[in-house]
Amino acid sequence: GGTSAAATGKRGLWSSRLMFILAATGSAVGLGNIWKFPYITGENGGGAFVLLYLGCIAIIGIPLLMAEILIGRRGGRNPAGSMEVLAQEAGVSSRWKLLGWAGVITGFVLLSFYLVVAGWAVSYIFTAGSGAFNGATSDDIGGLFGGLVSDPVASTAWGTIVLAITATIIIKGVKQGLEKAFSIMMPGLFVILLLLVGYSVSTGYFGQGVEFMFNSDFSKLTGTSVLIALGHAFFSLSLAGGGMMTYGSYLSKDVSLSKTVMTVGVLDTVVALIAGLAIFPIVFANGLEPGAGPGLIFVTLPLAFGQMPFGQIVGVLFFVMLSFAALTSAISLLEPAVSWMTEKRGMSRLKAGVLTSAGIWVLSLGSVFSFNIWQNYTLFGKTFFDTLDYLTSGWIMPLSGLAMAIFTGWIMTRAATHEEVGDGWGYRIWRFLIRYIVPVGILAVFLHAIGALD
Ligand code: PHE
Repeated sequence: GGTSAAATGKRGLWSSRLMFILAATGSAVGLGNIWKFPYITGENGGGAFVLLYLGCIAIIGIPLLMAEILIGRRGGRNPAGSMEVLAQEAGVSSRWKLLGWAGVITGFVLLSFYLVVAGWAVSYIFTAGSGAFNGATSDDIGGLFGGLVSDPVASTAWGTIVLAITATIIIKGVKQGLEKAFSIMMPGLFVILLLLVGYSVSTGYFGQGVEFMFNSDFSKLTGTSVLIALGHAFFSLSLAGGGMMTYGSYLSKDVSLSKTVMTVGVLDTVVALIAGLAIFPIVFANGLEPGAGPGLIFVTLPLAFGQMPFGQIVGVLFFVMLSFAALTSAISLLEPAVSWMTEKRGMSRLKAGVLTSAGIWVLSLGSVFSFNIWQNYTLFGKTFFDTLDYLTSGWIMPLSGLAMAIFTGWIMTRAATHEEVGDGWGYRIWRFLIRYIVPVGILAVFLHAIGALD
């Protein structure tokens, strides 16, 4: 594409293919992998759900990740700008830029509630470090977590810290800010994850963890398991959150997308599986329940940390890892809005970063209050936090995914997508999946969802 070179002229580009892989993997690996994946696996009975999830990643998630990064790279701008460029190239209505907008807005809204949970993670580094878990009973631990989420001031303060760190990194720009942060946090995350698995093996319950995660008992799946698996594949790969499209726009033209995108998808999946293998043996070794829900890592795991040898150190390491994972994802949620404001409104990164963060901060109060002073204000039985989560992951992200599949599979020319993805079998398989399997898969899950609702 001749347009993109000109468009990227003034923008930051990743200094290498590896930097892009770190950035995109940093976006993908987050609370989704370490907090959500283990607990939904626990709730959905283990192995069969894991298989279902792997299927969704392979045939729907990775092709869509390719589509999203492809759009960004070829467009070479912020998500709305890139969609506009590509709609023009394909000779279709410029309304397609709404799809880019959806990404910017989803990132903005998602960050407002993501940072609340990220704030809990950061605060737990200090809770674990203080020795508060040592020998504590389950009532003590439940009280610690309950005390945090029910305190609007403390929750807001921790969320603000997460947002301030994220904004500071963003304001410094792609090379000075993002790349430096990823070069520290991503290796840190991988090293800690491996240490934790090593520890898990030493508990003697590793086999039981493996058994739980891979022994497929399909009778444990419920009707909504498929929905949860697909929704989580979207969330975990950061699909339709604007970040992957924006990161793609900073990627040089020389890189072949097929291998690069596969690497990111595989790394994200491997981290989720390894996180499960680190967590479940510790849960079993302490005679605890894997199906504890969202409290699995904030209540169940701390209970285990309080009972096991070196639990205080392992606890600190665990929450440092979780915080790194959450921060690198938060960066990718803020970057789309900032790139839109700098390119379209001509603002400096400083001004754009401060303004977007201020907006996100205000919105985040609603999510903080969902766990305390507003917990009784619900819409269709959902709190403010749950409503935002449901609207983004349940509707906007899958619908955007469907639109991205149609756009890259049916509207862009074969020549254009072929030029981006690269040659070989990878391209043919991708094109088949994105044209037929991905749209049908998303629609099927939607129909199922609508059926399951009544
Ligand atoms: N993939 C991130 C996680 O697993 C969340 C995320 C979604 C980040 C969408 C960016 C965009 O935690």
